[in-house]
Amino acid sequence: MTIDTDKINQMYRHHYHLMPECGWMNDPNGFSCFNNEYHLFYQHYPYDTMWGPMHWAHAVSPDLIRWTHKEIALKPDKKYDRNGIFSGSGLQVGNEHWLYYTGHTDSHLDLLYDEKFKKKSDTAIPASEPLIRQVQCLARSEDGVTYKKFLDNPIIGIDQIPEGIRIEDFRDPKVWVHNNKFFMAVGSKSIENISHVLFYVSTDGVKWEFLNRLTLGKSFGTVWECPDLFELDGKHVLLFSPQDKPRVGYDFENVHSSMALIGSFDYSTGEFTVESDQEIDQGFDFYAPQSLLTLEGKRVMIAWMNMWDMKYPLHELGHGWNGSMTLPRELSIKDGRLIQRPYHTIENYQDIQVELNDFIISGEYKNDRLNDMSQRIDIKFNMEHSSHFSIDFFKGAKEKLTLTFNKNRNQMVLDRKESTYAIENLAYKNDYSRSQNIDLSKEVKLSVFLDVSSIEIFVNGGELVFTSLFFTEEMGGLVSFSSNGRTHVNKLLKWTIS
Ligand code: FRU
Repeated sequence: MTIDTDKINQMYRHHYHLMPECGWMNDPNGFSCFNNEYHLFYQHYPYDTMWGPMHWAHAVSPDLIRWTHKEIALKPDKKYDRNGIFSGSGLQVGNEHWLYYTGHTDSHLDLLYDEKFKKKSDTAIPASEPLIRQVQCLARSEDGVTYKKFLDNPIIGIDQIPEGIRIEDFRDPKVWVHNNKFFMAVGSKSIENISHVLFYVSTDGVKWEFLNRLTLGKSFGTVWECPDLFELDGKHVLLFSPQDKPRVGYDFENVHSSMALIGSFDYSTGEFTVESDQEIDQGFDFYAPQSLLTLEGKRVMIAWMNMWDMKYPLHELGHGWNGSMTLPRELSIKDGRLIQRPYHTIENYQDIQVELNDFIISGEYKNDRLNDMSQRIDIKFNMEHSSHFSIDFFKGAKEKLTLTFNKNRNQMVLDRKESTYAIENLAYKNDYSRSQNIDLSKEVKLSVFLDVSSIEIFVNGGELVFTSLFFTEEMGGLVSFSSNGRTHVNKLLKWTIS
């Protein structure tokens, strides 16, 4: 039985971000346009608020903001995908919607099942072979509602995995078409535990040939999950989510990260030449991003607004749902770096409430009209005559999420420790803040999206973005500012979003 949607606790549900109707959500999947409508599938377990045998849930939208759920598109019911329909992508091929996914099988589970039911499994694998296998599969639909698995699945089996790559870590196919050929990027890990992306090519989207691989060595993590390759502003961009990438200064501070490589991809050799690399989001809860080209030709990315190996309270509190997606973000490249802006359609749901110009904050500043759990606040400020400036969000008597700017250090810090349900990093103790260096001798521009239990902070037109979840017991919703010295606010805007 799936979780009863009438029993879902509404307390922390977002107002303008996609969430599962019930149960568990992780990665965005099959993010694509089919017959002029946007489709977003996601990793889903409908029977509990924890990860379990993966299904693909399905939602559609005219504008990437308002989503309508459809029936579950794919379930783990075939021999080659019986333990999970893992992540993958979607695209329109002729009049059909094609979904590529990873069929995940884990004979540990078969063995457990055998133990429990005292019966011999016909799928058990000899003890000498790895028990986990991942293969690439196809499902197709004519109506964008019912998806049929291809009879000859898997379309890429373990016999087509290049030498040195583990058959347990071969997943998350992203497929796109270039000059009438199909290309696929698959995330993987080598036998030496080094991350790789594998590229395949096909003339019909069904029969595939291995083309090439990309690896950047040990310092780039163990598995590259969820690769996504596309053209943007005259360059090629490869997004992926490296597991276990070591920390570098203030970057890659989460256990797992999401990165962008900017460079060029040679379609004839499958070689990716890297010009620069960067972490995509400077906050806590952002993973496995995927992108599409909108109907108006913009490249828009969306990600799972959570992170593995963090302890979120929703499961323990029994809220009946767990997981959400970030806002859709339009991508561009500026000075060799990836820039993210909230996709403009969110503006259709905004209602301006406050506009303040040219004022000084010295000491504390509060304004009742700025208090809200769900809203957008834009602020432009200048710290020429101040050393510290901070903003508290979701503030109650004991709880607050604090963003601080320290001019002497040219540093901004987001701190989420002050909450009854402070989110714990299971790998590092006391890991409650994220920082970045930023030039505070110039005006700073922030666009802040609060949505009950989430925040997304776009800094200086999307040069940096901090994404974080935040669960408060008090549901205070106060916003307050504080300045050491005189911080000049050039503009402050607030919108409700509904
Ligand atoms: C990324 C990931 C993918 C995998 C899926 C399983 O978050 O680990 O690599 O396909 O989640 O749910």
